Amino acid sequence: MTAKQGAGACSGGAGRPRLPGATITGWGTALPDTVVTNADFEARLDTSDAWIAERTGIRERHFGGTTSGLAVEAARRALKVAGVEAEEIDLLVLSTTTPDKTVPATSSAVHAELGCRGAAFDLNAACAGFVYALVTAVSMFQAGFSKALVIGADTLSRITDMEDRSTAVLFADGAGALVLESTPDHELVLGHDLGLDGSLLPILYCDHGEYMKMEGKEVFRRAVRATVESAESVLSATGTTGDDIALFVPHQANKRIIDAVAQRLGLDESRSAIVLDHTGNTSSASIPLALSEAADAERLNDGDLVLMSGFGAGMTWATALLRWGR
Ligand code: UT7
Repeated sequence: MTAKQGAGACSGGAGRPRLPGATITGWGTALPDTVVTNADFEARLDTSDAWIAERTGIRERHFGGTTSGLAVEAARRALKVAGVEAEEIDLLVLSTTTPDKTVPATSSAVHAELGCRGAAFDLNAACAGFVYALVTAVSMFQAGFSKALVIGADTLSRITDMEDRSTAVLFADGAGALVLESTPDHELVLGHDLGLDGSLLPILYCDHGEYMKMEGKEVFRRAVRATVESAESVLSATGTTGDDIALFVPHQANKRIIDAVAQRLGLDESRSAIVLDHTGNTSSASIPLALSEAADAERLNDGDLVLMSGFGAGMTWATALLRWGR
């Protein structure tokens, strides 16, 4: 994977063109009302609360809603925090692997429901998608856009076989959104690395009309390696180390993956943003959910360095090093 990562990677560090200035002014989340606990699965599948909690870190998750509905809810909250009206938004990027329809893009429904103006499109890079979307949106400020909604929303329960204990207990539904505003005064994205290895497609995929198929152990192994290599490449390109990171916001697939990555990056557990205990794996939504909950809990201060890193089907990976604040 290293060679392919090198070929497909691009880090905005020393010697590379910098991304335009930007700031995160709003954040918001949405989770469906229906809570499904490990005990609920224990009652109908050959599994146990102890196995799920120990092997994944997940205790409960939320099922329900539509991708567009959850995206709109999260976006409204983010707009409110930012004090920005929907009609001021001129760019909407929605990261999802579970669009409401094949055509048109789910962002069309979100754009209409919110009353945004300007451009909107969906982006699918699986669970790495939110970081892809964030880097894309900030890059597009160079093209003249000035206020962006970047949303990660997924309804994975729709493509998960609820009779298959190896996946049913993992995947769930939710959304997270950020409002980004263009500004010359703040460098938000200090470095980034987006990549994939398409030869790993067979280890995690979902055909049209079918359920997700996953080689869990292989995904686990690859995920740790890809995330560490991607994060290390960004730290190295930006002249930073794990010690400089105030908050690590990883994709929320498995607590054991998060801990293994954090340990290799020299980050103690207290610096990881964790939500998977009550959200499960919500794919595109997991990183903005974790970031938003950390911001709501006032875990972030102006100037803090935030390391976001995701991986997913494809296999994709994406890391961004952000400087929080205005
Ligand atoms: O968003 C990106 C995509 N997903 C991921 O990142 C997931 C990555 N993979 C994982 O998180 C882990 O590999 C899993 C949580 C999926 C599985 O954990 P594991 O420790 O790798 O378990 P395993 O697949 O090696 O299975 C160990 C045993 C097996 O039984 P035998 O063959 O040893 O008798 C499984 O059948 O655990 C069994 N098992 C379960 N037992 C109780 C698998 N799922 C369950 C379950 N409850 N839900």
